[in-house]
Amino acid sequence: MPGEKVTLSVIKADIGSLAGHHKVHPDTMLAASRVLAEAKKKGIIKSFYVTHVGDDLQLIMTHYKGVDNPEIHELAWNAFKEATKVAKELGLYAAGQDLLSDAFSGNVRGLGPGVAEMEFVERPSEPVIVFMADKTEPGAFNLPLYKIFADPFNTAGLVIDPRMHDGFIFEILDVFEGKVVQLKAPEELYDILALIGTPSRYVIKRVYRKNDNEIAAVVSSERLNLIAGKYVGKDDPVAVVRAQSGFPAVGEVLEAFSFPHLVAGWMRGSHHGPLMPVGLKDAKMTRFDGPPRVVGLGFQIHNGELVGPADLFDDPAFDETRRLAQIITDYMRRHGPFMPHRLGPEEMEYTTLPQVLKRLHDRFKPYEMGYKPVIKHSEELSGEVHD
Ligand code: F6R
Ligand code: MG
Ligand code: MG
Repeated sequence: MPGEKVTLSVIKADIGSLAGHHKVHPDTMLAASRVLAEAKKKGIIKSFYVTHVGDDLQLIMTHYKGVDNPEIHELAWNAFKEATKVAKELGLYAAGQDLLSDAFSGNVRGLGPGVAEMEFVERPSEPVIVFMADKTEPGAFNLPLYKIFADPFNTAGLVIDPRMHDGFIFEILDVFEGKVVQLKAPEELYDILALIGTPSRYVIKRVYRKNDNEIAAVVSSERLNLIAGKYVGKDDPVAVVRAQSGFPAVGEVLEAFSFPHLVAGWMRGSHHGPLMPVGLKDAKMTRFDGPPRVVGLGFQIHNGELVGPADLFDDPAFDETRRLAQIITDYMRRHGPFMPHRLGPEEMEYTTLPQVLKRLHDRFKPYEMGYKPVIKHSEELSGEVHD
């Protein structure tokens, strides 16, 4: 309906997978699709597309109910519940893994699933890209989103297109403290980078075009470990980016993924590895449960309908990126259990490391170093700001 705001909701969860944490079973996708098809018939959603990346089941939906809508979230929850039933029947691995609660309470955020939603008035032609990553965390999108919306060496339109020339506003979420800050690009680039260079804590949540405050991008920010307080799987994120006609072109958006940057996740959510852009056919985790992958599906949204998708990384233009990712994979793997392949201690908090330290506690004996070390705990660990 012209002038009315359409909502694009991408909600995902790992509800169990085939051959360990390798990939979603088609029957679970079917079970989720049935629930969404029923909701479409009833007019709750306008259209949907169900897919997967690795072991994460992805529900892509359009509707007119706005973001954080309880009916839509309940629908997604029910779809995951139905898919979980099938996962249990088939004996799939870690069935129901990301559904941290037994009961739905009005919003799936905080219950385990990841959510990226945006609401906007459809342009005459509305291209959007849904990015879905497995074996990594929401902060994995920090680097590419920075390049897309703030780096003219990536996005020529920042210089050339008058509608983008004013820049973009980055809404950055501190996932430890539950606080957001809006910073402007290009004026505050260095402040933006000072934060988002710590992707485990500061996550780009939304991006707005500065000259009219139009929403340009949104990222899921749920971090399972921080919800559950222990390691319960990685927080494999999704992101939605609007493209063209005053937003970065599809090709500029994709260009940001041509560099397979190091992200946290991979095996046991405890390692750094390269983010490899792949087509759907390769959206499955193998080597060392990875390497972490990202799929990009392009849609046109037309009268609220999802038209597509186009499987954007299924292209030889990304072969060299993938090859480089393989080389980086070899290189990082040779570090074995050493940092920086293994994550730093602050991220290992949610694994067995605290237990090892506790067990060894009494075996540590005092040692005279000749000085008393002054330790300022990093902000990463304590959340405190030091002078
Ligand atoms: C990472 C992931 C896998 C598992 C690993 C161990 O996000 O899902 O790498 O952590 O396969 O899994 P469990 O503990 O289930 O044997
Ligand atoms: Mg899994
Ligand atoms: Mg996963």
